[in-house]
Amino acid sequence: MAESGAKTRRKSKSADKPKVLRVGFIGAGGIADLQLRMLAQRKDVTIAALADINPRLLEKRYREYPDAEGFSNYRQMLKHCPLDAVTVCTPNKSHAAATVAALQAGCHVMVEKPMAMTVAEARRMVRTARQARRKLVIGFQHRYDPRTQYLRRVFDEGGFGNVLYTRVQALRRRGIPNWGVFGRKELQGGGPLIDIGVHALEMAHYAMGCPTPRSASADMFTYLGNKPSDGIVSLWPGWDHSTYNVEDLLVGRIRFSNGAVIHIETAFAAHIGQRSLMNFEIMGDKGGATWEPAEVHTDESGHMVNKTPGWLPDTAFERVFQRKMDGFVDHVLHGQPTICPGTDGLAVQTMLNALYASAANGGRETPIRG
Ligand SMILES: NC(=O)c1ccc[n+]([C@@H]2O[C@H](COP(=O)([O-])OP(=O)(O)OC[C@H]3O[C@@H](n4cnc5c(N)ncnc54)[C@H](O)[C@@H]3O)[C@@H](O)[C@H]2O)c1
Repeated sequence: MAESGAKTRRKSKSADKPKVLRVGFIGAGGIADLQLRMLAQRKDVTIAALADINPRLLEKRYREYPDAEGFSNYRQMLKHCPLDAVTVCTPNKSHAAATVAALQAGCHVMVEKPMAMTVAEARRMVRTARQARRKLVIGFQHRYDPRTQYLRRVFDEGGFGNVLYTRVQALRRRGIPNWGVFGRKELQGGGPLIDIGVHALEMAHYAMGCPTPRSASADMFTYLGNKPSDGIVSLWPGWDHSTYNVEDLLVGRIRFSNGAVIHIETAFAAHIGQRSLMNFEIMGDKGGATWEPAEVHTDESGHMVNKTPGWLPDTAFERVFQRKMDGFVDHVLHGQPTICPGTDGLAVQTMLNALYASAANGGRETPIRG
């Protein structure tokens, strides 16, 4: 009896122990820095390991997170360090391989946007998560933006009726990154569409209730990134024009199985009036909306009215990003549902790749298969 009582006590003691998520990082560069700072604030997370191929960066991170183990090869990290979850923060080319390896090692995974470079990679990631019975989350922080949540709620409650058309914009006037590998198609899969257009596209698609994409067409242009930046005062001068082989500007159209249409404009360098612009505008048969400002346009009491929420939570980038990191931990550690499942990432990937395929093919309509 005494023994069994002791056992029961031991059991209940361990049941009371707060759960802690042991997280490993694959890629420890710019976005990992932000993720690390946000996860480090949580008492239920341990930053257990960091893997990066850049030894100097790894050394720097090690000084910042001395309790974490450092690895130059993520496969060694997955083999030798017990982890519950991994976040993939490498350039896009490594997203699929690193995600699949982490899932197969038994870890839940959050992968930064875009999920992958190709639809085949994205499918493999979703399939592996299913087979391994692990959770796969895409780092789509803009879904956590209070403006996006408001518009999605309006959609869910029928406030737009049938969404007919959405205009999506992610444009920079002269914002070609002068760090990382954002101008190299072979490492990123593309330029502004896959890097910044993906943000505006995924949140617009989410706010429209994630309809099924059916086909896409696009045109793209390269005219500045492949030339030296000198001469013009700009935000990030000195980009590597010698390796730049992605688009500066892409304009495209996506058709959905419910009849809705998206038009997208995205650029690292477009001659627009503002420094940068990210927005989408929904037009439905009952109502419409803009994301910025978060404003719903509808008919009410015999009038055309524009409605804005009286108050929204903080929409500052870091606050929204914190919600994304919290969302991942709450999903994998505490079983809460995610609003960024791998399958949504796959749908977005099919749109990105169809837009690029069409642009490479003279703007021809390109079918999208689910
Ligand atoms: N959600 C967002 O708002 C946001 C913002 C910026 C970047 N990102 C995404 O994050 C990813 C990384 O972008 P970044 O700005 O941090 O780039 P970065 O160049 O600053 O960092 C990438 C890091 O990955 C490391 N790396 C490369 N290959 C690796 C490998 N095989 N194994 C381990 N480490 C490897 C590099 O050495 C580098 O330190 C990209 O996919 C990008 O699209 C997302």
